[in-house]
This record gives sequence, structure tokens and C-alpha cells, in this order.
Amino acid sequence: MQGPVRIAPSILSADFARLGEEVRAIAAAGADYVHVDVMDGHFVPNITIGPMVVKALRPHTTLVMDVHLMISPADPYLDAFAEAGADILTVHPEAGPHIHRSIQRIKGLGKKAGVSLNPGTPAKMLDYLIEDIDLVLVMSVNPGFGGQSFITAQLKKIEAIRKMIDKTGRQIDLQVDGGIDALTAPAAIAAGADVLVAGTATFKGGPTAYAANIAALRG
Ligand code: DX5
Ligand code: ZN
Repeated sequence: MQGPVRIAPSILSADFARLGEEVRAIAAAGADYVHVDVMDGHFVPNITIGPMVVKALRPHTTLVMDVHLMISPADPYLDAFAEAGADILTVHPEAGPHIHRSIQRIKGLGKKAGVSLNPGTPAKMLDYLIEDIDLVLVMSVNPGFGGQSFITAQLKKIEAIRKMIDKTGRQIDLQVDGGIDALTAPAAIAAGADVLVAGTATFKGGPTAYAANIAALRG
């Protein structure tokens, strides 16, 4: 069942020199999750942040800390992100040979496990994983950078995954990430997404605009 729409601002578009304040500001503005984009300059062309930053942010918020790992390999770092205070750890099957092992490890650490699919990766990839996971993240841009345009073809994939999730009868978040704004959000929600990641669209205009920006995404 599609859950209520939740907004997960990607702090990739926040002011990195004031991250604690930024996280408090999005919480006050009505955000549901804090989406943390971890990039290694190897799996994706960009480098961002690691577990130390998650640890530093943890005391600043009670929101769900939703950590999106765009790193290869991911397994050696799962424990560190869990200890740092992540609530959800999302990994890419394209980033390593043993996605099921990664999921098992995340659950063994007592965290929610997510699987993220790149735009070129089919929904079918989830066939033998769906019963074990708590979140599916559909990338609606190629991972690596904020501010890219929404790839409309991903809507079909979201529809297919919504059906797969509903068949399980379990509560699994269906998250869409990349190019989400007030114009693209309604189509993503109509296709079945219930968690919207938004970096550019949340943080544009600075802290006084965050509440209106987040409200606009909910439609
Ligand atoms: C891309 C990241 C996204 C990205 C979203 O690799 O996973 O979370 O920051 O940024 P916007 O909302 O600006 O497309
Ligand atoms: Zn992300």
C-alpha cells in the first residue's frame, strides 16, 4: 500500500558550512527524512561525505536519517554508518556482486535496508530481494550530482515496483530520487512513489523558503 507522501530533503544541496543548522531548519519546515548522499568518486564521479558527518549531524535531529550509499564497495562501511546513527542504509546492486549479503548485514545491524536502482537497471533486479527490504529507491537521474533533470521513463519503473510492493503486503517505502520538484512530484506520486527525495527544490531560496518549498512538493 502506498503510504502518505513523505519528503526527504537531500542535504547535498544544503550549505555544507552550516549543516547542523540546515538540518534543524528542514525539520522545522516539515521534512520527514534527512537524505544523506554518500559518494566515493569511484561508483559515481563525485565525492561527498562519510560516516563522521552523519555522526556529527545525529544530535541535531530526531528525523529519520536516510543514508544513500553511492559507493563501491559498500559492505566495508555499513557498520560505520550504522554506528554513526543512520536509520536507513540504501545500497546499489550495481555497486557490488553480493547485494543480498549487504541487505543481510544492514538488517543484522538493526537498521532498515534499502535497494537503489540506477535509471538503466530493471525493476526485475528486485524479484528475489523484495521480501527482505524496507525501501526501494528509484533513481530518476544518473547518480552523482544534484540539479539534474527528471528522467520521465522511470515512471514506468515506479509503477511496476508499486505493484511488486503491494503484492508482498508489507510496508516498503518507494522512494524517488533526482529532479523532483513541484512539477515532477505529482507524476511520481501518481506512479506510486511515497517518499520524495529533493535537494535543489528544498534548499532553493534559503531557510526562509524551506517550509513553502516542502509544502509545494506535497502537492
Ligand atoms: C544524486 C542524489 C540525489 C540528488 C537529488 O546522485 O542521489 O539525492 O542529490 O538532487 P536534486 O533534487 O537536486 O535532483
Ligand atoms: Zn540520493
